[in-house]
Amino acid sequence: MCGIFAYKGSRDNAPEIVFEGLKKLEYRGYDSWGVTWKKNDGSISLQKQIGKISEASKEGIIDEKSHLAMSHTRWATHGGVTQKNAHPHLSSGGKVAVIHNGIIENYEEFKKRLGFERFRSETDTEVISELIEEYMKDLNFEEATKKVAKELKGRYAFIAMATGENRIIAARRGSPLILGVKEGEYFLASDIPAFLQFTRDVNYLDDEQMVVIDDKPRFYDLLTDSEIEKRLVTIDWNPQEAEKGDFDHFMLKEIMDQKETIIRAIDQNEEAILKIAEYIKNAKGVFLSGCGTGGKVCMAAEYFFSVVANRHVNFAPASEFPIYHHFLIPESLLIVVSQSGETADVLEAMHVAKEKGAKVLSLVNVQGSTVARYSDFSLLINAGPEKAVASTKAATSQLALLLLIAHAVAGKLQDGKKLLIETASQINDMLNPRFLTYIKEVADDIVHSDHTYIIGKAANYPMALEAAIKIQEVSYIHAEGFPAGELKHGPIALVSPGTPCISLIAEDEVKGDIINNTIELKARGAHIIGVAPFRHESFDHWIRVPDAGVASPIVNVIPIQLLAYYLSVLRGCNPDMPRNLAKSVTVK
Ligand code: M6R
Repeated sequence: MCGIFAYKGSRDNAPEIVFEGLKKLEYRGYDSWGVTWKKNDGSISLQKQIGKISEASKEGIIDEKSHLAMSHTRWATHGGVTQKNAHPHLSSGGKVAVIHNGIIENYEEFKKRLGFERFRSETDTEVISELIEEYMKDLNFEEATKKVAKELKGRYAFIAMATGENRIIAARRGSPLILGVKEGEYFLASDIPAFLQFTRDVNYLDDEQMVVIDDKPRFYDLLTDSEIEKRLVTIDWNPQEAEKGDFDHFMLKEIMDQKETIIRAIDQNEEAILKIAEYIKNAKGVFLSGCGTGGKVCMAAEYFFSVVANRHVNFAPASEFPIYHHFLIPESLLIVVSQSGETADVLEAMHVAKEKGAKVLSLVNVQGSTVARYSDFSLLINAGPEKAVASTKAATSQLALLLLIAHAVAGKLQDGKKLLIETASQINDMLNPRFLTYIKEVADDIVHSDHTYIIGKAANYPMALEAAIKIQEVSYIHAEGFPAGELKHGPIALVSPGTPCISLIAEDEVKGDIINNTIELKARGAHIIGVAPFRHESFDHWIRVPDAGVASPIVNVIPIQLLAYYLSVLRGCNPDMPRNLAKSVTVK
């Protein structure tokens, strides 16, 4: 939610650097953008516009020479999508410019205190620039910014610059902020891809920390008011991984990446996996939590732990998890799943668990993310940067790693590895050009439908829910997933002749039941798309998937990711940037 990026360093094309780098953060929000830079005379120049940064012209920015600049891409929270509400926000006296990601909860109090007439936007952010300017009447830029950071309530990562100042100052609480470091150059961003082409050496800012970037950075703990040292970490993503290469969209690239990502997900330190398995066995109450796709993965993992390890674990969506605090004790274990590692609801769930003394294990994709650092144990799924808003490769990597852990809990780690290596090779074969062409044909067939229903049973029931999310978010077709057996209790009334219904079927103990449910749909005239390792007469389309045994949710969800992608493209949508959404949801 919102991407922020600032540069200070030896290059004199800072405006262009932050303009180009911002495009790499566009997945975080894309309703408007803005760039600001320090001019030679010490004053601040600013450009902001409605629309996507990727479609913006860099006229008026590219030729500007400066060593210090900041940029912002917005996902609106407070105030509509207007040029005035776009960041950066320049204080009314023109002295301070600010970019911000998060929500300032006490902004109304400040607006009242400073006088409403001073404000030109409807945003919460504008109070930051106004307050810094106000405090600079008595304090210097650094002291004023520190004072503001301490007074703000809510979640923020903000970066500020001021006229006549050769430094940038940033602070964080609850929203990500990473400093990329290269000889004499500093890059401050919400996420690493913004500066990956320049450096892989980073300092992660933690909550309640501030950085002042002068000739070199100085870090402060806002709680203790003391200067602190930060460790430089080298991240192992390469710039190519964060590009879409020859693919038309990131979503397609990331779906195709699944030829390799399952293997990377299970390539874990065995000792660590066995230790985690022991922890799960000894825990008194194991909970799984995540949001959106991560939540559906957790639901599937409930089945994995039950079927593979005979172990009862409980899933709750992270936004609902806090209500279960009564069940948490110091011996409980919460397992959270998050691609970005920045999702506010996930962090809140972790906070609730930790307050009860419970331990938290996280599965994340983004190294050094807040979730990873806030956990007691954390495993990286190693899927590489996922930039399309729709989660694809991260989801199957999470499924693979949780299935591996379930096998470890059952004392069958090597069997789990063997199964997943075999599954990865089956996926590699499945994702061939003929398969893609066929899925496109299926999409062509149903593209004009207003509704699609997806059914699944056992571990494929959560995949039916996940399939629905994929279709909804990128194609805007109304899609709903159901447990196959529930149809006859109500939802089947929605089906009329020609309604596309997708059945996610596996070669498992519930196969007979879901086939019967599919036949019931067919009898009502539904257009059946069977995703299964075998053909059945009820199918109008058969999407053939390998028989992956207990790993069937992984192979069954991939064709639906592709189907959603093609539906989106055929309907003229942009699958990478669906309306109203952002990649990482850092607000509650
Ligand atoms: O980064 P996270 O995995 O924590 O994100 C959770 C959800 O916001 C995310 O999975 C969302 O549902 C995706 N857009 C679904 O494709």
